[in-house]
Amino acid sequence: MRLGRSILVCIAASAMLFASHPEAKASVAKGKQVCGETAQAVKTGKEASRLLLKTLGGNMKKHMKAGGAKDALSFCSMNAANLTAEVGSKLGDKVSVKRVTLKPRNPANLAEGDEKEILEALENLKRNSVVLPKYLLQKTKNGYKYYKPLLINKKVCLKCHGRNIPPSLQAEIKKVYPADKATGYKMGDLRGAIVVTIEK
Ligand code: HEC
Repeated sequence: MRLGRSILVCIAASAMLFASHPEAKASVAKGKQVCGETAQAVKTGKEASRLLLKTLGGNMKKHMKAGGAKDALSFCSMNAANLTAEVGSKLGDKVSVKRVTLKPRNPANLAEGDEKEILEALENLKRNSVVLPKYLLQKTKNGYKYYKPLLINKKVCLKCHGRNIPPSLQAEIKKVYPADKATGYKMGDLRGAIVVTIEK
């Protein structure tokens, strides 16, 4: 739906350009190309972020069921980074995917630079009771970055990121992640984002 709408907006903008400039045929063609490129980047971002969520979420569910939060925690701590890299390698060498946050459990996931600014902007929007968009698309020097905001949207997230984590689980978390910042969340909080980097 959203994709359809953005393409429509693109076509309408191109048509207006065409009407106001007799020599605008080339510009229209260029405009269409840019719109097509944007739509393609959104499609790639959507597919990549879905694949990552499905991979990480599916594995977590399986381990929660089999051995509870402790089992899932040790699985995540040992495999989340590898699984993320594996998903990345399936996407070809022009696309990469990762998770970033302002309050990391794994310090490798700390948002920096423009990614930090965008997460801070999303936090600000949330503070002003804005319902966050499903995704954002940023133009970069050599392509795009697709951001999918990740909310604490399931009760199960609170087991490992919430306020009342059982002491034995908390101890496990501290053992693997001595500098953990990823607790104290409640339902609906912004936890971070998936970032899909797409090179032209
Ligand atoms: C069983 C415990 C557990 C549950 C349940 C859990 N997480 Fe995590 N989460 C972790 C661990 C461990 C990491 C660090 C993984 C790593 O080392 O990369 C992590 C990392 C993350 C990260 C990456 C940023 C960071 O802090 O390193 C995000 C985003 C995240 N979790 C979101 C969620 C969401 C959303 C849910 C609910 C759908 C959820 N988690 C449920 C244990 C859990």
